[in-house]
Amino acid sequence: MNNQLFDFEKEYKFGIDEIDGQHASLVNMIAEIQIMFRDNKKEEAAKYFFETMSRYLIEHFSYEESFMEKIGYPQLEEHRKVHANFRKNMEKSFELISKGDEPAFRNALSDTYLWILTHIGKTDRKYAVFYNTNQ
Ligand SMILES: [Fe+2]
Ligand SMILES: [Fe+2]
Repeated sequence: MNNQLFDFEKEYKFGIDEIDGQHASLVNMIAEIQIMFRDNKKEEAAKYFFETMSRYLIEHFSYEESFMEKIGYPQLEEHRKVHANFRKNMEKSFELISKGDEPAFRNALSDTYLWILTHIGKTDRKYAVFYNTNQ
């Protein structure tokens, strides 16, 4: 997990401190959940996923949307939709997980992890480039 975070920090830093910090926290949180899951602390993992991580992710989305608004990012509406769609899908998987569907939980975890990394690396990167070239 530490190696993953190390790579993550090297490759996904935008030079925007607050946002870089939030992204690193998100990746750490998912790593934490994966460890709990592996250690068979499934209820704890589900609670952390539902409550702590998803709350943090939603706060992050809002923070990012305000930031994009502040810098006059032209693709804000598109980005906002991507966030909203992901949120909807995540809530759908919560229903399955709360019914004790373990494969659904495992899938939701790896999908979330992948989605977050891809989203940061591709979609978020675009506003960072905009910010870094226009400020
Ligand atoms: Fe982000
Ligand atoms: Fe984003």
